[in-house]
Amino acid sequence: MPALIEADDLHKSFSHTRAVDGVSLTVNAGEAYGVVGPDGAGKTTALRLLVGAYTPEKGSVCIAGVDMRRDPEKARAAVGYLAQRFSLYTDLTVFENLRFFGQVRGVSPKGLPDRAAELLKFVGLHGFEDRLAGNLSGGMRQKLGLACALVHRPKVLLLDEPTGGVDPLTRQDFWQLIIRLLTDEGVAVVVSTPYMDEAARCNRLGFMYSGKLLIQGSPRELTAGLVGRVLELSAQPKEQARAVSLADPEVEDALAFGDRLHLRVTRPDGPLARLPQALGSAGVTVSRLRPIPPNLEDVFISLLEHAGEATA
Ligand SMILES: Nc1ncnc2c1ncn2[C@@H]1O[C@H](COP(=O)(O)OP(=O)(O)OP(=O)(O)O)[C@@H](O)[C@H]1O
Ligand SMILES: [Mg+2]
Repeated sequence: MPALIEADDLHKSFSHTRAVDGVSLTVNAGEAYGVVGPDGAGKTTALRLLVGAYTPEKGSVCIAGVDMRRDPEKARAAVGYLAQRFSLYTDLTVFENLRFFGQVRGVSPKGLPDRAAELLKFVGLHGFEDRLAGNLSGGMRQKLGLACALVHRPKVLLLDEPTGGVDPLTRQDFWQLIIRLLTDEGVAVVVSTPYMDEAARCNRLGFMYSGKLLIQGSPRELTAGLVGRVLELSAQPKEQARAVSLADPEVEDALAFGDRLHLRVTRPDGPLARLPQALGSAGVTVSRLRPIPPNLEDVFISLLEHAGEATA
């Protein structure tokens, strides 16, 4: 079976900005691919290329084996897209919004009430059919947006920062829905997100920076390169602990995670031996210093620094 999404060497510029600069990715049925990257990295532009809203200057997109350039209508019919700043019709009800998107997406009018009921149940908006979309909470709006994106039963679902500005509990709900789509329906999902906990849920990830996917792989593959190179330091006062740590020749970086620091080191042994004394003589109280498994944020910050050095 071909991959549901096959993007090869996509390029898209806006005047002097190379928004997407040679992006290739493949997503199979039942797989969630996360696109992670800072503001302006090109995530939205990449998703718009995948949905066929933009034509790439170079490169190709195939959806379920259909070339977007050759047969855009057929390729687009297999894609559901939830835009980063999507608009619902605030003066229409929940049901009317779904009906409208269903009509636009070519769902038969006869089948629409059943499909709408099924989707509203799926996203947990059953019973809210008659509420004006303008009166929904942020989380409910996103769920209605998801229902609208799914109205025509797409095989491919593209979600552009779908949980931006949504409370943690609703984010959790939203991910349960995505997981059901992956496992029960075998949908292929591409989701862009600024949240590392969401990135960690994806089967595979690409880290985007300046229009390029700098690295791709499963969360485990991506963190593998930093195994043994992150130390956790709990110490007070934290700012001073950071400064003393950074003065060690084998400490590359010190990132704050809540009340702890993650020290990225070239090798752990030297800093583990030297830091307790260096911190102590600077008046820093150390409650813990130990090697820990790297997380995705450690990986991405390290990548960003290297990318910054390369373009500086
Ligand atoms: N329609 C446009 N016209 C001109 N420049 C654009 C347009 N869309 C995007 N860009 C530029 O292309 C680059 C990539 O933008 P894009 O919106 O794809 O990034 P993003 O990763 O989605 O950012 P964010 O996290 O802020 O949503 C940015 O430099 C942006 O200013
Ligand atoms: Mg964006």
